Amino acid sequence: MSHNAFARSIIVTGASSGIGAHCARALRADGWRVFATARKPQDIAALEADGIEAFYLDYREPDSIAALVEAVLSRTGGRLDALYNNGAYAQAGAVEDLPVAALREQFEANFFGWHDLTRRIVPVMRAQGHGRIVHCSSILGLVPVKWRGAYAASKYALEGLMLCMRAELDGSGIHVSLIEPGPIESRLAEHGLGWFEKNIDWQNSVHRDAYLPQLGRLRQGGVKSRTKLGPDAVYGVLHHALNSRRPRPHYRVTTPAKLGVLLKRMLPSAMLYRLLAGQA
Ligand SMILES: NC(=O)c1ccc[n+]([C@@H]2O[C@H](COP(=O)([O-])OP(=O)(O)OC[C@H]3O[C@@H](n4cnc5c(N)ncnc54)[C@H](OP(=O)(O)O)[C@@H]3O)[C@@H](O)[C@H]2O)c1
Repeated sequence: MSHNAFARSIIVTGASSGIGAHCARALRADGWRVFATARKPQDIAALEADGIEAFYLDYREPDSIAALVEAVLSRTGGRLDALYNNGAYAQAGAVEDLPVAALREQFEANFFGWHDLTRRIVPVMRAQGHGRIVHCSSILGLVPVKWRGAYAASKYALEGLMLCMRAELDGSGIHVSLIEPGPIESRLAEHGLGWFEKNIDWQNSVHRDAYLPQLGRLRQGGVKSRTKLGPDAVYGVLHHALNSRRPRPHYRVTTPAKLGVLLKRMLPSAMLYRLLAGQA
């Protein structure tokens, strides 16, 4: 496989399915040198078959993060133009039903691993004087929706951490953006079903009845809605964050995400939360 030594380089995590799988290929088609990560050998092979340099990464395993960075930098001669943190999962379940270990694991995958990878890349970008760091957050990192406490907490934490980092990188030539999608076609719900069944003792929960429609939603692959967009909608804003002279701090994707932010700005909190409680 030959790679253009002059192409801009990017790491894309969680590229086995959904948004990451689409964006890795779209970036490659747009001329980027793409280093993408997955966990299963067959997903790594599928990426490589499409001309993408693919590596194993599990954010819960610090050694895999260190190994990824070392391997990528050895191939690029110590440079990297962009990082797109994307790989994550959504642990569903009422907050009172969440074992602490399940919440910790959610944070290892969605938060601490992202911080670890980002911290390893920032010195590289500082040394070269430029870089783009884009994180895939969620509208659930901005507005709370019931049954999604673990996932929402991980995305709220991400927003707080990375917005502070964004301010601290001011003037360094490194730009930080957060993408906040609403519903996007992917395998997030299918993967989330496994995590729900593994960690939530839902049959013995006071929320048992309320879980039944939630289970139905996860089993059918998430919400069925005309407002749900394909992963190309996320690529549209990722492209802007990577290429624009003035990348934005926040990119909301889908009408529900834009509406959520608008309502949060306009409504008194109690009214907003009452409205959201009726949504889930
Ligand atoms: N789909 C939506 O409606 C939506 C809305 C808002 C935000 N998002 C965000 O979009 C991003 C991509 O999700 P998606 O919707 O495309 O879901 P997806 O189809 O489930 O893809 C998630 C990707 O993350 C990987 N991943 C899961 N746990 C990981 C870990 N511990 N370490 C490294 N990678 C891991 C998965 O790999 P495996 O295949 O190996 O499990 C997969 O490649 C996530 O950050 C998600 O929070 C999605």
